[in-house]
Amino acid sequence: MSRKLFYYNGADLVFGYHNQRILDQIKQYSKPVWLYQKEVIQERIQWIQSWPQLGRLHYAMKANFHPEILKLIKENQCGIDAVSLGEMTHAVACGFTPQDIILSGVAKTRDELTWAIQNEIYQINIESPSELAKIIEINKLLQKKISLSIRVNPEVDAETHPGIATALKDSKFGLDFKGAEILIRRIADDSNLQLKAISFHIGSQILNVNVFEKAIQVVKPFYQKAKTLCPELERLDLGGGVGIDYMDADSDKDLARWKALEEIYTKELRDFDAFLILEIGRFLVARSGVLISRVEIIKQADQVNYLILDAGMSLLIRPALYDACHEVLPLKKSGTDDTTVYTVVGPICESSDVFATNKKMQTLSEGDLVAICDAGAYGSSMSSRYNLREPAEEIFI
Ligand SMILES: Cc1ncc(COP(=O)(O)O)c(C=O)c1O
Repeated sequence: MSRKLFYYNGADLVFGYHNQRILDQIKQYSKPVWLYQKEVIQERIQWIQSWPQLGRLHYAMKANFHPEILKLIKENQCGIDAVSLGEMTHAVACGFTPQDIILSGVAKTRDELTWAIQNEIYQINIESPSELAKIIEINKLLQKKISLSIRVNPEVDAETHPGIATALKDSKFGLDFKGAEILIRRIADDSNLQLKAISFHIGSQILNVNVFEKAIQVVKPFYQKAKTLCPELERLDLGGGVGIDYMDADSDKDLARWKALEEIYTKELRDFDAFLILEIGRFLVARSGVLISRVEIIKQADQVNYLILDAGMSLLIRPALYDACHEVLPLKKSGTDDTTVYTVVGPICESSDVFATNKKMQTLSEGDLVAICDAGAYGSSMSSRYNLREPAEEIFI
């Protein structure tokens, strides 16, 4: 079975499930534009929420914080995983309550922690002794009951790009079990502090779901030990990180990957007495967005045929940052079988502004439009004004 999210209807590239031609959405192309289909996100939320043991799905809004997406997340009774004051206040502006918010992040500021404590958010995930000390200090004045989690580092290799692996030994994220236990004892001694959760997050764009099993197996005994010290402990926060195959936008394969992970979660956690939380970003939104761009220049170097687009790393930095691949598809199929091997690059004044190297594609002309696929996660949210380029408009189909 295969349900491709991109295919050609005649000469026209279609995106999504309703035979919608991308060209119909682009009235008069003048500059790059992000195009989203919320339905793709809705479907994935349902896949995940159908896992019977799930307590609550929190959306890692760093993946994409567009208000339309947050609105959809809210409508589906999901919580939020935020990593800054900006994300927390944006979530509230988009209709979430502080009780919907988990605050993650390796170096939370005094302002962020103060806001989180004052507004009594759902959970603050602590990652260092200094952070706990800051919380205690801030709370001397505020005297609130604070729901905390300790983020542990299970030291499991997520088998992903090192730039998005977060549980290697000596990672800056989380605490080793020894360090975590010291903080848990400190929390147990303070009547204003409540250890509600143990959390972990081993990395992003994880394709081998078996690594999640390893992490759970390592964390479970620690959870039990922590519960003897803090009986109020009731939640296990499993983080996020499940990935997609960027070179094959097939929803059925994505569903199969989620189902494989769900089976692991069920096997490991069926009899585990805890409210289970997921903090998922990429898997929910990556497939929902494309970046539409125009071939600005075609240029021949000695050995390389450059296809230079008007969108580059200032809009989509993933390829330059961690060698990520995105499929690049012409919006119009040509009538011939002519192909050319291109290196597809952006216009930015950096040699690393490369989307694809030596990619065999249909022969294109300057002015042709292309879709950079699966760009809904860590696309617009990571974009910048580098080279003082305009941000791209975001359109929802
Ligand atoms: C703590 C935490 N939770 C969840 C996520 C979401 O990861 P993903 O988008 O891979 O699901 C991240 C991403 O970096 C994270 O740092």
